Amino acid sequence: MAKFDENAKPFSEKWLDERLAVNTLKRVLSTEYWIPKDINFLWAMGMVLAATFGLLLVSGIFLLMYYKPDTALAFDSVNYTIMSEVGYGWLWRHIHGVGASVVFLIIYIHMFTGIYYGSYKKGREMIWISGMLLFVVFSAEAFSGYMLPWGQMSYWAGMVITNLFSGGSLEAYGLVEWIRGDYVPGDAFLTRFFMLHVLLLPLVIIGLIVLHFGTLRIPHVNNQKGEEFDFEEAAELYKAGKKKESKVIPFNPVFLSKDVFVMGIYFILFFYLVFYHFNFAMDPVNFDPADGLKTPPHIYPEWYFLWSYEILRPFPKDPGLIAFGIAQVIFFLLPFLDRSPNVAPASKRGLFKVWFWLMLADVLVLTVMGKLPPEGIWNQIGLVSALLFFALWVALPFITKAEKKL
Ligand code: HEM
Repeated sequence: MAKFDENAKPFSEKWLDERLAVNTLKRVLSTEYWIPKDINFLWAMGMVLAATFGLLLVSGIFLLMYYKPDTALAFDSVNYTIMSEVGYGWLWRHIHGVGASVVFLIIYIHMFTGIYYGSYKKGREMIWISGMLLFVVFSAEAFSGYMLPWGQMSYWAGMVITNLFSGGSLEAYGLVEWIRGDYVPGDAFLTRFFMLHVLLLPLVIIGLIVLHFGTLRIPHVNNQKGEEFDFEEAAELYKAGKKKESKVIPFNPVFLSKDVFVMGIYFILFFYLVFYHFNFAMDPVNFDPADGLKTPPHIYPEWYFLWSYEILRPFPKDPGLIAFGIAQVIFFLLPFLDRSPNVAPASKRGLFKVWFWLMLADVLVLTVMGKLPPEGIWNQIGLVSALLFFALWVALPFITKAEKKL
């Protein structure tokens, strides 16, 4: 049993340290956790993501106080009760809606930063895999949340996406009815997606964030040149007062203060969107209540799913489903398909540089095409972009294997 100081004042540093080891945490964060000096603002995106997730949790809890998971009541509980009757209900809804959209923009920036600097390579595979798990579960979280207002887009996007599980032999197993709890989306569908959105998936996300942070401990954070160096030695230099020569900075307060600065700028932009441009995160079609007898002329998902939706669309049902399935998981394999030993920015990696920019451009084109109706030239551009997506993945092991060692 630990020794307790009888004279320590309740909640003083000593009292807390004896009970919660706060000084150990402080010591670890400020003198035992080191971050490379050679990084830029893109390395703050991880903390920006964590903060946005925190805001989504808090705003979600406030919305949950008035939301009704019942097909007869859900639409009005959101569009009438929360928006007009509850004090500041509109603010929580706008924060939640804008947060759900912006979090994906930051996730994509964070992912492509990792790809650009090779932060998924040898030693860092688990950081990448836990990040990809976060991406997949975040996608499920966003989709389940989109069902909750029970508007036209909730209903029809729910119908289209769950229909994916009726492809080929899946039809025979009745998988789609099993997922919906009915033949069409209805009460059982809404309540189970409600449970996923407010309980199960947030718990999984919290667990995965802890895992993702844990995976960063051993391989250390990468840097702009992908340079490997002795962290212990660099830390000793810093501690000896040779801060200029040292290649690292302590996590707290140096790195954290930079993170907080970037977060400050981010939140100014974020709340600008919340107050003045929240509409971009709310589909006008979803302000009509769900109606199973009235199909909207054009059904499309939120912007962050458009690229994978467009990969599915140009193909017939079963190949489309397979293409969509591959697109969801192929990024998991990046550390294993990239065969080059070089950990360096893409600009220094010959053909990989071309691969990176083509992949980014292709995902952007797919996103734009996913929003346009599948007609004429848009269809052809969509098909070419979807084929290019797969061609790039097939080419990756070959071009990286041939890459010269730096
Ligand atoms: C809510 C989701 C996420 C949170 C809260 C989060 C948080 C973080 C944090 C705090 C860092 C360290 C600092 C930084 O580089 O920004 C980090 C690093 C990293 N994350 Fe994430 N992340 C998330 C999602 C993802 C996703 C979707 C991926 C990609 C698949 C990913 C891949 C990485 C990689 C490769 C690193 C290492 C960067 C380096 O070593 O330079 N993360 N993450």
